[in-house]
Amino acid sequence: MAFAALRRALGPGNNGLLGGAGLRFMSTPRVQDRIINVIAVDEDGIRHRIKGLIGHNLMEALKLSGFESEARHPSSDRLDACSGNCEVTIANEWLDKVPERTEDELEVLRDVTKRVTKNHRLGCQIQLTKDLDGMVVSKVEEKPFEIP
Ligand code: FES
Repeated sequence: MAFAALRRALGPGNNGLLGGAGLRFMSTPRVQDRIINVIAVDEDGIRHRIKGLIGHNLMEALKLSGFESEARHPSSDRLDACSGNCEVTIANEWLDKVPERTEDELEVLRDVTKRVTKNHRLGCQIQLTKDLDGMVVSKVEEKPFEIP
């Protein structure tokens, strides 16, 4: 009703209130436009299509989808205060699309993994972008000291 009243007040063509540009509404980005798919492969080799939000990091997407437990990955803004439990492996075909590892990330990976390969990454360090839509990642095996 308010919209109709506004439209009547502006009249056809609206040459006044909106500077002659006509009645236009700015398009706001929809959440739907910010969603990408990530294929998460579990330890049994089963592929799970999970949703990720552009601007979030991969670990957040894994946690929000229930693919990773919140308890294992408490949020931390400080990489040096973290245990590196968000370690994942990225499929070869996606390696050139993810940002390069920083020295800090590599240092954490060396602390938690005996043999760091080019595929090892910390999920919290990979910000999701449109280019990563369809990316295939897998969990890294539980470390022996974490198995009850
Ligand atoms: S969440 Fe701690 S190193 Fe990634």
